Amino acid sequence: MIERRHYAIVGSGHRTTKLWAPAFKRAPVKDLGELVGICDANPERLKAAQRWLDINIPVYTDFGKMLDQSGCQTVIVSTPDVTHDRFITEALEHGCDVITEKPLTTDERRLARIVEAERRTGHKVEVAFNYRYAPYATEVRRRLAEGIIGELTAVEFQWCLDTVHGADYFRRWHRRIENSGGLLVHKATHHFDLVNWWTDGEPADVFARGSRRVYGTQAAQPAHGRRCSDCALAATCSFYWRLDDDRRLAALFRDAERVDGYVRDGCVFDEQVDIMDTMSVSVRYQNGMLLTYTLQAYAPFEGYRIQFSGTRGRLECVFPEYVVPEQELSLARRQSARVAGALEELGTPALGHRDYDTIRLYPTFGGVREYTVPRETAEHYGGDGRMLASLFDDRLPDPLGHRAGTRAGALSILIGVAANRSIAEGRTVSLAELWPGVFNEAAGADTAPKVEP
Ligand SMILES: NC(=O)c1ccc[n+]([C@@H]2O[C@H](COP(=O)([O-])OP(=O)(O)OC[C@H]3O[C@@H](n4cnc5c(N)ncnc54)[C@H](O)[C@@H]3O)[C@@H](O)[C@H]2O)c1
Repeated sequence: MIERRHYAIVGSGHRTTKLWAPAFKRAPVKDLGELVGICDANPERLKAAQRWLDINIPVYTDFGKMLDQSGCQTVIVSTPDVTHDRFITEALEHGCDVITEKPLTTDERRLARIVEAERRTGHKVEVAFNYRYAPYATEVRRRLAEGIIGELTAVEFQWCLDTVHGADYFRRWHRRIENSGGLLVHKATHHFDLVNWWTDGEPADVFARGSRRVYGTQAAQPAHGRRCSDCALAATCSFYWRLDDDRRLAALFRDAERVDGYVRDGCVFDEQVDIMDTMSVSVRYQNGMLLTYTLQAYAPFEGYRIQFSGTRGRLECVFPEYVVPEQELSLARRQSARVAGALEELGTPALGHRDYDTIRLYPTFGGVREYTVPRETAEHYGGDGRMLASLFDDRLPDPLGHRAGTRAGALSILIGVAANRSIAEGRTVSLAELWPGVFNEAAGADTAPKVEP
């Protein structure tokens, strides 16, 4: 019988009520860990989360008190991105290990504090990169690790967020760059991490351009309200989103907003929006591999396409992230469904409606080969469940290196931070500017990024 480890969670919002806290009610996590506390700055949301989860465990509005009183050994950080560094470093100082939601943090100063605290305390930080664990992403990693296209030379990666998922980043805290680092950090941390992991790549420098074309004030029609709930254009706006259609989010956010003013259904055209929705990034890796990446947050469908070129061939991957559920009522999702239907009529397989995905290999000389990966519909295409099993059980083998620590978290956000700086300053930004020792990790603690007071 294994002794169950004690976990505490900070943040009782969407991700905690969907993934982290429910995990403790089911195998394998319930056999490996015990949830001993949840903390949130908003007491109303804490109460709502307790009711929703139907659990009776100690809750705290003071993180320090939770560390002192709960007996936790590992802290799960699931708060807005800009707050991660504070909770990670305090937990490490207290003698805990940490599992943090992505992104590890939002800028190089905060990163420096995390790296320094981890080194000094000897406790460990793991980043919950769930996208790695989806069977499709795992298959890409496995094939590339086999060396089937030789030495990698170039990667083209396009990620499309549709007008439901993409728009959601413009409704609440993510829409301010100071909270999230913008989508190049908040969202692209997943994508840059996948490329780094798939290719064993170490990014060297970055050039980027970006703009905001659809969301924010530029696109606003004058009569838009501050939020969907009381908007006069609700009947006609394509981006209208009804909070009360999602019982869990309505329970968490509707009443709790009077405490902290966190409006869950903010207007995507609000003047508060200062992040970009259209981005293009060019990354040079230390081994010479070149990545060309684009991200847009208002696409007619959701998914990604990635092509790897190598000295012996090419690997092409197309992954439709959304299988449009019949019951989706929002206009935007109906639009996505219409795209799938129209593709079927054209005789093209409607990717979103298949139960498998493919990876195509074109050897440089000779033919083409297709690998098939069964599609999973569980959260994040089977990624979340597999990640939980792995993160909570140290004994499991990890032959493809799914588990990610501070370095992977750092390299993925540093590409985004460098891209933001490149866009602002119109020049190529080296990762070494942000973290002088980044290419020389083996040299030890003095290579960590500088900690500023
Ligand atoms: N890996 C994924 O697929 C995935 C998906 C969604 C979100 N996330 C990440 O999960 C984290 C949480 O996102 P979310 O969508 O659940 O956010 P959320 O806004 O729904 O919940 C965040 C919670 O943190 C609380 N909070 C804010 N500041 C706090 C503070 N100083 N002290 C204590 N509590 C505080 C808020 O009151 C809120 O309840 C983010 O880092 C996000 O990037 C990851």
